[in-house]
Parts: sequence; C-alpha cells; structure tokens
Amino acid sequence: MGTCWPFKLMVMVGFLAVSIISFQSANADPQTTLVNKGCSQYNASNTGNFFSNLNATLADLRNQLSNKHFATAQQARSSDPVYAMVQCRDYLSTADCVSCYNTAVSQIRNCSAANGARVIYDGCFLRYESTTFYDQTTVQGNSQICSNQTAPQPANFQTEAETLLQELKLATPRINGFFAATKRQLSNGGDTVYALAQCAETVSPSGCQDCLTVADGNIQGCLPNTDGRAFDAGCFMRYSATPFFADNQTTNINPYLGGGGSNKKKAIIGGVVGGVGLLLIIFALLLGYLLYRKPKKAQRGDILGATELQGPVTYSYKVLKSATNDFSEENKLGEGGFGEVYKGTLRNGSVVAVKKLNIRSGRAKAEFESEVRLISNVHHRNLVRLLGCANKGAELLLVYEYMANGSLDRFLYGEKRGFLSWKQRSNIILGTARGLAYLHEQYHVCIIHRDIKSSNILLDDDFLPKIADFGLAKLLPDDQSHLSTRFAGTLGYTAPEYAVHGHLSEKVDTYSFGIVALEVISGRRSNDMTVEPISEYLLEKAWKLYETDSHIQLVDETMDPNDYNVAEVKKFIEVALICTQSQPSERPTMTEVLIMLSSDQSIEQRRPSNSTISSDRRFFRDTLTSLTDTTSSNSNATASFTEFTGR
Ligand SMILES: *[C@@H]1O[C@H](CO)[C@@H](O)[C@H](O)[C@H]1NC(C)=O
Ligand SMILES: *[C@@H]1O[C@H](CO)[C@@H](O)[C@H](O)[C@H]1NC(C)=O
Ligand SMILES: *[C@@H]1O[C@H](CO)[C@@H](O)[C@H](O)[C@H]1NC(C)=O
Ligand SMILES: *[C@@H]1O[C@H](CO)[C@@H](O)[C@H](O)[C@H]1NC(C)=O
Ligand SMILES: *[C@@H]1O[C@H](CO)[C@@H](O)[C@H](O)[C@H]1NC(C)=O
Repeated sequence: MGTCWPFKLMVMVGFLAVSIISFQSANADPQTTLVNKGCSQYNASNTGNFFSNLNATLADLRNQLSNKHFATAQQARSSDPVYAMVQCRDYLSTADCVSCYNTAVSQIRNCSAANGARVIYDGCFLRYESTTFYDQTTVQGNSQICSNQTAPQPANFQTEAETLLQELKLATPRINGFFAATKRQLSNGGDTVYALAQCAETVSPSGCQDCLTVADGNIQGCLPNTDGRAFDAGCFMRYSATPFFADNQTTNINPYLGGGGSNKKKAIIGGVVGGVGLLLIIFALLLGYLLYRKPKKAQRGDILGATELQGPVTYSYKVLKSATNDFSEENKLGEGGFGEVYKGTLRNGSVVAVKKLNIRSGRAKAEFESEVRLISNVHHRNLVRLLGCANKGAELLLVYEYMANGSLDRFLYGEKRGFLSWKQRSNIILGTARGLAYLHEQYHVCIIHRDIKSSNILLDDDFLPKIADFGLAKLLPDDQSHLSTRFAGTLGYTAPEYAVHGHLSEKVDTYSFGIVALEVISGRRSNDMTVEPISEYLLEKAWKLYETDSHIQLVDETMDPNDYNVAEVKKFIEVALICTQSQPSERPTMTEVLIMLSSDQSIEQRRPSNSTISSDRRFFRDTLTSLTDTTSSNSNATASFTEFTGR
C-alpha cells in the first residue's frame, strides 16, 4: 500500500470548537471539551470488512486503556484495514481516561464508514486511518485554539507562560513517556500558569521535539490570553490560567532542562553538583544535537492529519522536467493513447510516473482541471493514484504513483510471459473487477473508463492490479467528431455498440473487462491471429470452445496444470463470456461480476449465451480484421471513431 501524502485544496468536515470550559476539579472529569474533529471524505470500499475491523480495533484499544494511557491497535488482514491510536493525558485517572475514550468513540462513529477520522478532546484523542500513521509528528493542519479573554496581568502572564512552554518543549521529548504537566507562579505572586505537553509514544524523541517546536510556535500565538491549546498529529500542548490537573500530578521537569532553552544556568549548576564531567559531556552533545537539527517550519493548513485527504498537487513544470531528466528517452516508460509516460524521481526521492498529455482542443483543456480534480479524489487499491498535475502551454502533465512491475500485458504475452501463477491471475481478474465496480458504482459519480485493456492495468509489488488512465477518455481530442460518437477505445477490447454506434454505458467496460480476463487466462492477445492455424480472435475461439464445453483448453499452456483448479478456471472463462455478450443489457454490472467470480452457484442461473451474434459484432469483426491486416498484429492503437468507420 504505497501511499504518498501530498495535500492541498481539499475541503472537509474538520472544524474547531472554541468552547473553553474552566476546569473544576482534577477528579472524575474526563475533560471532553472538544478541541478538533474531522472525518475523511473517503468511504471504506467494503463496509462489512471495514466495520468489523473498526469494531475489533476500538475494542482492542479499550482493553489496553485499563492499564495505560496510550495505545495503538490495527486490523489489517482483509480489505479496508483500520489503524488506530488513542492517548489520554497522563493526569487523568484510568476511569476518566476510559470515559473520555468512550465519548471519543461515540463521536468518531458519527463519521460512519469514512476510512479515516479523528477527534481531539482536552482529556484524550482518538484517530484511525486506513494506513499506519503512528510515526507522524507534524502535518499540515496543525493549529491552535485560543480563548478570547486576556489574562489579568498580560505582560507578566505572557513572559511566564512563554518560558514555561519553552521548558516543556525542551524537556518533554527527553522524558520517558513524552508527558509533562507543570505550573509556574507569576513573578509578582498572584496568578499561576498551568501547562502540559505530550507526544504520541510511537514517535521518536526528535519527532516529538519537531512536533512540539511547531506546537509551541502555534500556541505562543494565543498569549497573552488565558487559555491556549495546540494540536498536531504527534503531539498536544495546552496552557491555562486555571488549573486543569491536580497539584500532585505535576512533573518535575528541572532534571530534563539541560542543554539549551531558558534554563541553561540551572542545568549547569545541577551538573556541578552531580558528576561534573559526565554531565558536561552530555550537555555538550545535547547542545550540538540541538544546534544541528533544523526545526521544521510550521505549516499551516486546514486539517490535522491531512493524510486521509488528498487532492491534486500542482507541481511546477520545471520540477517535473528535471525529475524526468528533461523527459529523456531513458526515462520513457511507454506511450499510451494519451501521450508519453516518463519515470521521474522527485527531489524528496519518491519515484513517480509522469504522463504528458497533448491536448489541442481548447474545450478539452478547460475540462482538464475539473477532470483532474475529480480523478485525484478517486482512492481505491485497484486504481492507480493520481498525485498531481502541471501544465505549460498546450502541454499538460499528470503525476501518478509509480508501479515498478509495469503493465499486465508484459506478463501475459510480453517479455515476462509465463511468469504469473493461477493464483496471481485470478487475483488480477478479481482486483480489476473491484476497481471497475468502484468506478462505476461506489464513487460518487459513475466513471466509465472506456479503454480497459491489459496495457492499462499495472501491477504493484505484490502483483495486484491497479487500473490506470481512468477518467481521461473525456479529454481525448474531439476536433472533428461530435460528442456522442467519440470513440476512446482500443481495437479488440471495445464493445461493438460503442465502437460502431458510439453508445456509451458502463457495460462498455464490462465487455472490455471480459476480454482482459480472457487474455489473463489464455496468455493470448485479444486481437492477435498470428499464432493460430485457423484465423480466430481470442473471443471467437473462447465462444467456440465453450459451445463444445471444452473451454478449459483456452488456458495458458505455460501454466502448470497442478497449479489451478479446472472448475474455477472454467467458471472464470464463463464469467468472461457473460461479460462479452453482444447485448449490453445482457452483460452483468461489475458488482454482479464480482459476486459471480467469488461464489459457487450463481453462474448456473446465468449461462453465457452467444445465440444472438449481432450484426454489430459481425460488422465489428470484419472491420477489425481489415484494420489489423493493414496495421500490424501489434495493434495497440487507439483509434478515433471517425478513423475507425470512415472508410
Ligand atoms: C460516504 O458515506 C456517507 C454516508 O454513508 C455519504 O453521505 C457520503 O456521501 C459518502 N461519501 C462518498 C465520497 O462516497
Ligand atoms: C460495530 O459496532 C457497532 C456499534 O457497536 C454496531 O452497530 C455494528 O453492528 C458493528 N459492526 C460489525 C460489523 O461488527
Ligand atoms: C455524534 O453522535 C452522538 C451519539 O453517538 C450524538 O449525540 C451527537 O450529537 C453526534 N454529533 C454530531 C456532531 O453529529
Ligand atoms: C469570546 O468569548 C465570548 C464568551 O465566551 C463569546 O461570546 C464570543 O463570541 C467570543 N469572541 C470570539 C471572537 O471568539
Ligand atoms: C492527588 O491528590 C488527590 C486530591 O487532590 C488525591 O485524591 C489523590 O489520591 C492524589 N494522588 C496521588 C497519586 O497522590
């Protein structure tokens, strides 16, 4: 699950509740004043798996809270994994901690099936995501909440609070458990400042320090008001003119102050009293460490833990140009219907695939931005993730996650032919079906891919499929043709009603999926006739074999017969044939395909029927034959409808 976390431009439900309740008593108060909450705008893909994972994770966290104040738990076995973290302020009793947690759970459940959520209270916080985030320290969205009441002695209060917060920033990363609560009386007597700092126990000391540096910067903005809170992914800070923890819960931070900050003197005196040499060495090391660390600049954003919320990042053209070595031949990964694709290495070391689109039409260019926004919000493990874009003149660049294993066609009939086992092949067929079902039925608008083919399906490190190029068909040039007859498909994969009449529905993808499934099973190209003694396309051959119940012969001969279950392979072939029936209405939806592929019985009620070889298909076949004769058997070409029929 390779995920990058660029983020910008996304709207979400996060909001801040600026309600400051004054502290009454340290006991029997779970401190459930809300600081921040938010739900991811992306829903789990399989809510059954998701809720069972979430429930198990939340129960696990609750159990752990019986003897600690920090816990993580995860359920990552099935789809829709859940990773979660809870932390209570250490000054809360176990009962208050559990009570705060319970409030957090009921609050976070309001996010329904969102695949990420968080809630932060004065007393505790709870967060879950679909990927691990335990080592996150400071992320965009870090912020602060201030009371709007000025302290009675503003100047004095500000000075003491600043010092106290700085000391906390310095000491907390050095304290086992990353928690410190402390107080300080104003120099002229009178008021007291109370403050605390805490980091997630799963971050490193330097991560804690980074986070508190940002938090301290944020919370200082609240002074000289009476209350301030700063929150971030990996830490929390709070100060107040009123006590919010009991006296006997204060931490003595003095031993941890050596090496910088405002209390150097105290530390040195401490060092003299203790073993001078050793302490001075430690002090020198710490000082060096602090001086040579670059504190991360505070980033302001709207959302804490923006990880679950990604929108398109606008890259600078120059950055992408240098990442791809000026779009050099060596960096070229391939050429698709939409333009060339290059491998790029960004300055932070992450590897991406950069697609260069050539869009001449002005209307298409205008569509580009809204289309990019739409597809950059599509998140599914079987769909290639769009990370961002750039444009310069007529040139538009799309930045995608990089898939080291390349495209499926290489493994079927390219240089890696014979590599894939049946298990891998069936996972590829299932994953592709899941990705399409998501695009058609689960995403908030139905996205029809229009160009499903083996070279558009990429394989990740585990040979699981990710569909590429979805949402782009709309951007194809349509200079000469009118809208409804734009044909964005590829010969050999495209449903006849779309190729011939331009009739577009999600069943166009079902058809192409069926063809890809046959390719995956047979290891043959859909539009290749060269290997056969009798001229037959893959689909025709599959139908013929099926009619004599000998379709198992279609299976790739490079596969070991002990490797697969004959009945299962036959079922997959039958489902593929059902998908490629001439009439769109006879083809199943992708969700139905998934059900058929994963269950044993349903297929009996829905035998594939080829009885109606439509005139469309016959026409289609003849056209295909004459076209592939004149191009080559290696026809990967994307044709426009006018080219295709204008003979
Ligand atoms: C997520 O689910 C909620 C409730 O089930 C629904 O209101 C919302 O529109 C869904 N969001 C997306 C992006 O599908
Ligand atoms: C998860 O817990 C909620 C609330 O307790 C419950 O309504 C739901 O049925 C549970 N879901 C699963 C899949 O266990
Ligand atoms: C969240 O859910 C709780 C009950 O589980 C309800 O009392 C509360 O009003 C909800 N909050 C919001 C903001 O919807
Ligand atoms: C300041 O606090 C008062 C009372 O707590 C509230 O009514 C008011 O809206 C707050 N003002 C701002 C700017 O937040
Ligand atoms: C802290 O003080 C409270 C009374 O304010 C008392 O109930 C509690 O037991 C004390 N805790 C410890 C650890 O001494």
